[in-house]
This record gives sequence, structure tokens and C-alpha cells, in this order.
Amino acid sequence: MLRQPKVGAAQTSPTLPTPAQGVRFTTPIVETPGIVVLASWIWRLTRFLVALPFRFPVLVATVTVSFAAWWWLGWPGLAGLWATAAVTSLVWWRTWPDSYRTWVTLRMLAWWRHVFVYRRHWQPVLVISGLAESYQERRYLPRIRRVTCDTWADRVRVSLVAGTAPADFEHRVTELAHGFAAPSCRVIANGPRDITLEFPRHDTLAEPIDAFPMTHYVELDALPVGRREDGSPWLLKLHGTHVLVVGVTGAGKGSVIWSAVRAMLPALADGTAQVWAIDPKRMELAYGRDLFAQHADDGESAVALLERAVADMQERAQRYAGKQRSHVPTTDDPFVVVLLDEVAFLTAYHPDRDVRRRAENAIATLTSQGRSVGFAVLAALQDPRKEVMNLRNLFPDKVALRLDEASQVDMVLGEGARERGAEAHLIDPTFPGVAYVRLEGSPAPVRVRAAYVSDDDITAMTEVYGAGSSSDGEAS
Ligand SMILES: Nc1ncnc2c1ncn2[C@@H]1O[C@H](COP(=O)(O)OP(=O)(O)OP(=O)(O)O)[C@@H](O)[C@H]1O
Ligand SMILES: [Mg+2]
Repeated sequence: MLRQPKVGAAQTSPTLPTPAQGVRFTTPIVETPGIVVLASWIWRLTRFLVALPFRFPVLVATVTVSFAAWWWLGWPGLAGLWATAAVTSLVWWRTWPDSYRTWVTLRMLAWWRHVFVYRRHWQPVLVISGLAESYQERRYLPRIRRVTCDTWADRVRVSLVAGTAPADFEHRVTELAHGFAAPSCRVIANGPRDITLEFPRHDTLAEPIDAFPMTHYVELDALPVGRREDGSPWLLKLHGTHVLVVGVTGAGKGSVIWSAVRAMLPALADGTAQVWAIDPKRMELAYGRDLFAQHADDGESAVALLERAVADMQERAQRYAGKQRSHVPTTDDPFVVVLLDEVAFLTAYHPDRDVRRRAENAIATLTSQGRSVGFAVLAALQDPRKEVMNLRNLFPDKVALRLDEASQVDMVLGEGARERGAEAHLIDPTFPGVAYVRLEGSPAPVRVRAAYVSDDDITAMTEVYGAGSSSDGEAS
């Protein structure tokens, strides 16, 4: 029961002016009953104690076990426990020194980064980036639950306050990365109110990646073409989709294309996959011509190649109709990759209007109907604007290498990609092959770097695999 509010002195004092004199009113002061204050403190203490094992599991376990040992076995028991722990860590250190050093170093680093980087700058960075309201209201500040470190990144687990969503953080990744002096920031949603912010401590993609070794095994829907920022392989799906690779001149489109071809080599050799290549610049693909089942380099022959691909695709679709809904690569029905370097040459820059129209029709037909019958288009493009390439939405998967303007990022990777941290327009020109991609099942763009396939690598590829691939139907 609340007591009757005590009316403040301001209203009773005869020396103060009355409302009739036209001066301000003062709000009455209500005193919270002592029992309510006490209950609130007990509630807070209980909540703190219940949450403690979840917030500091190692610390709580150590204290509890030590206390139990002392309680049951006395001081000798406690000393024995600590001696066992010391011997165990000594054995670990002597037997697996690297693992021990890494574990200890990373835990110390995590503690240091938690205290001196994240906790210290948390409130100002969140307030300034618009993710928390004010400096006074700590209740409405998302709470850091835990900081962990591995060899390349810090991971900050955060409990969100009611009314904010993981997407709010995704839209502020640039500010967060800047605020904590990290090269980038990625948001991983663990639940509606629980996220992990991943801050790399250095740029893991700064060094070029050599071409991957040629293997005998190929997965056409997961071709290893480079590395992701977290060190895991960047796997490009080609079978069952179409891929558009966009970047200014010198951005490294060639390395994406050649890494994909390199990863497909065993399938090219056994005839379950074919590459039909169009190379208007006569530079990019000419080196590996022996690897391609068909090849074209001028407008007329390129359109003829595309129209042949459309005819084959439609013939296959006719055969599959009512019998088969998806494609399985075989030597009779191989997976066909139509490789188009600088697709705008055919769709926008070619002087012959008829060539442009036919090329556009063929590409549109292939990209809209080819996926389920084993035809994929892998195209490279410098300028993603609509007037240059109005077919870009027919490519389900896109790779954004270095771009000219910020506005082009969303054109390539889709609405909101730039807000979520895909800063393709800011990629360092001295890092060709670095790109942003969107992976299946996640709206957050991922930074990757393609492996660099040098001219010598291509020569070696043609020497090993060139003779094995079919060269029937050479178009040029
Ligand atoms: N993944 C990579 N790693 C390191 N260096 C690379 C990578 N890709 C390309 N390069 C370097 O950048 C140069 C230009 O790359 P590339 O020819 O692939 O660019 P491009 O985007 O195809 O340009 P263009 O549109 O002019 O054909 C290459 O000669 C090479 O030296
Ligand atoms: Mg090129």
C-alpha cells in the first residue's frame, strides 16, 4: 500500500507565490515506502546471484569447488586441489606448449580487450552511433555479456534491450567498426535479443592468396575460389545458379573467374562439365583456351555461341519435361558454364544493334531458364548501372569487387548491403581480388578474397587438363 503522498514544502510555504500570482507549480514529492525499496534490493541481489554462474562460469566454478574442498576436507584438501590443478596445467604446458600458450594468451587478451577496449568505450560508441539513447540511462544500454578472442578476431556477445533488434546493429556496422578501431564488424544474431559482434583485429585478407592446388575432387555447388575474412574457404556455388562478378578495371574479376575454372578442372577433364567461354577483350581467357569446350571472341561468334547454348538448354528442358526436375551432371548431359568476360561489350557497347539485342535475349533466356537443367552463366562486368546492364537482377548470386561509387554497392549486392557493411567502394586498390559477397541464409555481407591464378598457373592447368577436355564445336 502506498502511503498518502506528502505534499512538498513548495506548496505550503506562505513566502512562495501562489498560482494566482501566475508563477510555476512544483510537482509534489512522493516518498517510496521502505518496504518497496527493500524488496527491490532483494530482487536485484537475487537476480545478480542467479546470473553470476552464467556470466562468470569459470570463476564461479573455481570458487565453488575450492570452497567445497575446504568445507569437506579442510585446508589439506584445498591445498591438494590446487596442487592437482597446478600439476595438470604444468603437464599441459610441457606436452602441448603451443595449445597452452595460445589458450592462456587468448584468455588474457580477451580480458584485456573486454576491460580496456569494449567496456571502456561501449557507452560512448553506442550513444554516438545511435544504438543507445543517452549517457544517463544505463538501463537502456545493451549489455556486454562476454568477450572472447581467437587468433584473428574479438567476439563480443551482447544482450539487447527491449525495443532494439539485431538489424539495428547490422545497420551501424561501419560506426561500430570505426568506434572500436577494427577494420570491419559483422553481426551474428543468436536470438531476437542476443547477438555477437565480430571485430577482426587486423586485415586477414591483406596478403594475396596463391592459386589453390589442383585436386581430383570437385563439388560444382561449392567451388573453393578464395578465402573468407575468418580464414574459412570461400566456396562459390555455380551449379544451380548464375553468378555476376562486378568490379572496376583491375579489381580482380579475372581471379574469380579463373579460380572457378581451376576448381572445376576434374569435371572438365572427365566430361561432366564444360566451359563455353566468350572473351571480347581477347586477353582474359585466351591463355586457357584449350580448357574450353567452346570459345568466341567477337560479337558475331559470341552471339552464335550464346544462341547455341540456348538451343541446347531448350532441347534438354524438352527432354526433362515431366521426367526430371533437377540436373545431375553426366557426360551425356554435362553441366555447362557460359563464361562471359565483360558482358557489357555484348549488351551495351557493341556497335551492331542486332548483336546487342540477340545477345541480351540469349543471356536473359539462359539466366531465367538454365538453372535447373544444368546451364549456368558466370559473367564479369565493370559498370553495374542499369543503362549498361539491365539484366543484373537475373543473376541470383553476385560478387562485388572494388566499385567506383557507394551507390553501386546496393545495385550489385541488393538493398541494404552497404548499410550492413559491404563497403566495396572503399576496397583498397592495392588489394585486387578482395570482394563482398552474400552467402546463402545470411543477409550480412561477408568479405572475401579470391585466390590469384597467375599466367603460369593457367599454363600448367592447360598442360595437365587441356587435352582431356572436349574441344568439339570450337566456335572461333
Ligand atoms: N586475387 C588477386 N590477388 C592478388 N592480385 C590480384 C588478384 N586478382 C588480380 N590481381 C592483380 O590485379 C591485376 C588486375 O586483375 P584482373 O585482370 O583480374 O582485373 P579485372 O577486374 O579483370 O580488370 P579488367 O576489367 O581490366 O579486365 C592482375 O594483373 C593481378 O596482378
Ligand atoms: Mg579482366
